[in-house]
Amino acid sequence: MADLSVSFCGIKSPNPFWLASAPPTDKAYNVVRAFEAGWGGVVWKTLGEDPAAVNVSSRYSAHYGKNREVLGFNNIELITDRSLEINLREITEVKKAWPDRAIVVSLMLPCEEKLWADILPLVEATGADGIELNFGCPHGMPERGMGAAVGQVPEYVEMVTRWCKTHTKLPVIVKLTPNITDVRAPARAAHNGGADAVSLINTINSITHLDLDRMVAFPAVGNASTHGGYCGSAVKPIALNMVAEIARDPQTKGLPISGIGGIGNWQDAAEFIALGAGCVQVCTAAMLHGFRIVEEMKDGLSRWMDEKGYKNIGEFMGKAVPNTTDWKYLDMNYQVIAQINQDDCIKCGRCYVACEDTSHQSIAQLIDAAGVRTYEVIKEECVGCNLCEITCPVQGCITMVPQDTGKPYMNWTQDPRNPRREVKAA
Ligand SMILES: Cc1cc2nc3c(=O)[nH]c(=O)nc-3n(C[C@H](O)[C@H](O)[C@H](O)COP(=O)(O)O)c2cc1C
Ligand code: SF4
Ligand code: SF4
Repeated sequence: MADLSVSFCGIKSPNPFWLASAPPTDKAYNVVRAFEAGWGGVVWKTLGEDPAAVNVSSRYSAHYGKNREVLGFNNIELITDRSLEINLREITEVKKAWPDRAIVVSLMLPCEEKLWADILPLVEATGADGIELNFGCPHGMPERGMGAAVGQVPEYVEMVTRWCKTHTKLPVIVKLTPNITDVRAPARAAHNGGADAVSLINTINSITHLDLDRMVAFPAVGNASTHGGYCGSAVKPIALNMVAEIARDPQTKGLPISGIGGIGNWQDAAEFIALGAGCVQVCTAAMLHGFRIVEEMKDGLSRWMDEKGYKNIGEFMGKAVPNTTDWKYLDMNYQVIAQINQDDCIKCGRCYVACEDTSHQSIAQLIDAAGVRTYEVIKEECVGCNLCEITCPVQGCITMVPQDTGKPYMNWTQDPRNPRREVKAA
C-alpha cells in the first residue's frame, strides 16, 4: 500500500492532510477529534496579542449553486477570540498526547520585532512543530495593519519572516494572500526572508450576495455588512494557479508549498500535490461536512497511488509542473475536434445552442421528416474550444479527439503568423 506520510519542511506527518487555521482548529476539543478522525496535522487557529479578538454576529455567508450546494463560503471572523495563555496550554497538551501528528501554530502580530521576539519562545515551549505567519486574513485585521496588509507588501513579508527566522528555530511557513496581482512577489519575499515554506491561499475579498429588501449584504451585522474572505470549492482554480505560479518560478524553485483552497476530496489534494504542494490544508470542506471526510481522502489517494504505481507522495509531487507553461510555448499545430456519440445523445440541443451563439457555428441541427433532431459536428469548422463538451449534460457523450495534423510542434514564438516571432539567424 502507498506510503502517505510526508516530511514537509522537516515537519513529519502520517498523511498530507492538514486542517487549515480556522474554527476547526481553534481549541483542543476540535483538534483532538480531528486527530481521532485521522487528520495528519493541523495549523492552529491564528494566535495574536492579548486581549483576544472580539467577533461579531453574524459571521458567515455562502454562494450557492442549484440545490443549495455551497460553491463558495465567506466569513468575517477575526483571529482567535481566546486568550494566548489558554491556547498555548492546550497546544502543549495536545502535542504531548499526539506526538506523531503535525501541529503548526499560526501567528499574527503587528509589525514590531519585539512582539514577535516575545511570542516565539512561548510557542516553541509548547512543543509545536512549526509556525505559520498569517499574512493573508483580508477582513478586519488589515484595518489594524496586520494580515493581508502585510502580505500585500513584499518588503514587510521579508522583514517579518526574517525576524521570525532570527527568533525561533522552528520551521517558518509564510501564508500568502491571494488578494494581490502577482503572488510570486510575496513568495519571493518570503523566500528571501529565509522562509522554510509558503502556504496558500488565504481567503479572497468577497461579498457573496445581498438582501435586496433590506439593501444589505450577507453576513449582515444589524443593518450593515463588510467584505469577507471567500473560500471553499469555488476558489480552488485560483489557488491551484497560484501554487503552480510559485512552483514553476525559478526564483522560488524548491521552496516547499502547502496547498490550500477549495480542497474537498482526494482528487483535489492530488492535483495540488501534482502542481508542487508537499502537503495540503482544508478548512471549508471540514466545516461543511465534518472531520470524517479525511477517511475518503486518505483511502482515495492511497488507492489511486497504488493504481498508478506511486509508492509515496514524493513520486508524483510536482509532476504536472513541467507541463504548466506560458501561453507562448503551447503547440500552435495541436488540434482537437469534438465528436458526439449519437448513442449517448439525449437530443437536448445544448451543444448546438452554445456553439451556434458563440463565434463558431460548428454543430449542425438536423431535423428529419418525422421531426427527430440529430446534432452533428461540422468538422471543418470546429476549432476545438471544448464549449460543447463542457455544456453537454451527458458526461462522456462529447469527446475531444486529437487530430493527426502531421505538423511538428511549433509555438507562438516560432509561428510565421506572429509578427514578433523570434527569427533564428541564418
Ligand atoms: C471561518 C474561517 C476562519 C478562518 N480563520 C483563519 C485564521 O484564523 N487564520 C488563517 O490563517 N486563515 C483563516 N481562514 C482561512 C483558511 O485557513 C483557508 O486559508 C481558507 O479558508 C481556504 O481554504 P478552504 O477553501 O479549504 O476553506 C479562515 C477561514 C474561515 C472560513
Ligand atoms: S468544440 Fe467548440 S467549435 Fe467545436 S463543435 Fe464544440 S463548441 Fe463548436
Ligand atoms: S448537449 Fe450532449 S446530449 Fe445534448 S444534444 Fe448535444 S451532444 Fe446531445
